[in-house]
Amino acid sequence: MMTADTHNSDGAPRGGAPGPFILSTADGALTERVLDSFDGAPSTRYREVMRSLVAHLHSFISDVSLTQAEWERAVSFVTRLGQVSDDKRQETILLSDVLGLSMLVIGINNPVAAPATESTVFGPFFVDHSPAYGNGEDISGGAQGQPCFYSGTVRDVDGAPVSDALLEIWHSDEDGNYDVQYLDRQVVQGRGHLRTNAQGRFWFTSVLPEPYPIPQDGPVGDLLSAARRSPMRPAHVHFMIQAPGFATLVTHVFRDGDRYLGDDAVFGEKASLIRSFVHHDPGTAPNGTSLDRDFYSMHYDFVLQRTSDGAG
Ligand code: BEZ
Ligand code: FE
Repeated sequence: MMTADTHNSDGAPRGGAPGPFILSTADGALTERVLDSFDGAPSTRYREVMRSLVAHLHSFISDVSLTQAEWERAVSFVTRLGQVSDDKRQETILLSDVLGLSMLVIGINNPVAAPATESTVFGPFFVDHSPAYGNGEDISGGAQGQPCFYSGTVRDVDGAPVSDALLEIWHSDEDGNYDVQYLDRQVVQGRGHLRTNAQGRFWFTSVLPEPYPIPQDGPVGDLLSAARRSPMRPAHVHFMIQAPGFATLVTHVFRDGDRYLGDDAVFGEKASLIRSFVHHDPGTAPNGTSLDRDFYSMHYDFVLQRTSDGAG
């Protein structure tokens, strides 16, 4: 703990130049001793990861000359990460998202070679056991928003259709909320799963997704406000696509023209995942029904990589 007699209120050592009781910021001997303390680990991977972590943390703390007060704030931040997390809320993943760590790990572990579809963050709003739908059905569950007709294909990298691929779909409503965020009602809206047909095609109806802020009422929200960073995510629809022999694809399709494109709070946006959600005046919809209100349509052709190609 910082003591009042050795440190200023901002945590800096009192009296300018460090006194003899303060370790040098570049205490290589200390770093070496901590690195060596992992030498007995039976797992070489554990040893490698922990040695690198310690080396980088020591170097970071020396680099910024971390004050005692800053160290205490960091400890309290990490404590709050745990305190606000539970089986429904994962504040630590949110931290990883806003620091770009999630996208870095995804990039390292899901190398894609064109024309395979790129991956992006999973996010906190997926729910297991979503309702099953057939192609052509409405998965909105009554979610508020402008009708949108979705279609696309799932193919392999050679262009062959992938039939019976399982698509999990989830998205926000016109207020930028997912169904699970309405704590006052138990509804399943804007989510479901369906399968591609023999030609690798899928199609369904729902509503147009709108942009939304990531949860801001915890320590990650404080981190963003301190940096004057936007919490917003550009509008998107989540897709998780699984088929035997293929790497699972976790991705989104982003709405072209969204005002938050280029400023995604979690750095999940990729140019290849942006598609036009085409506006239509009232009239005949893609499913043949007549609509007396504006509607939208979006088409995306997904490409899966085979696991034998080293993916997944
Ligand atoms: C999402 O897209 O649902 C999401 C992703 C990362 C953090 C928060 C939300
Ligand atoms: Fe989302």
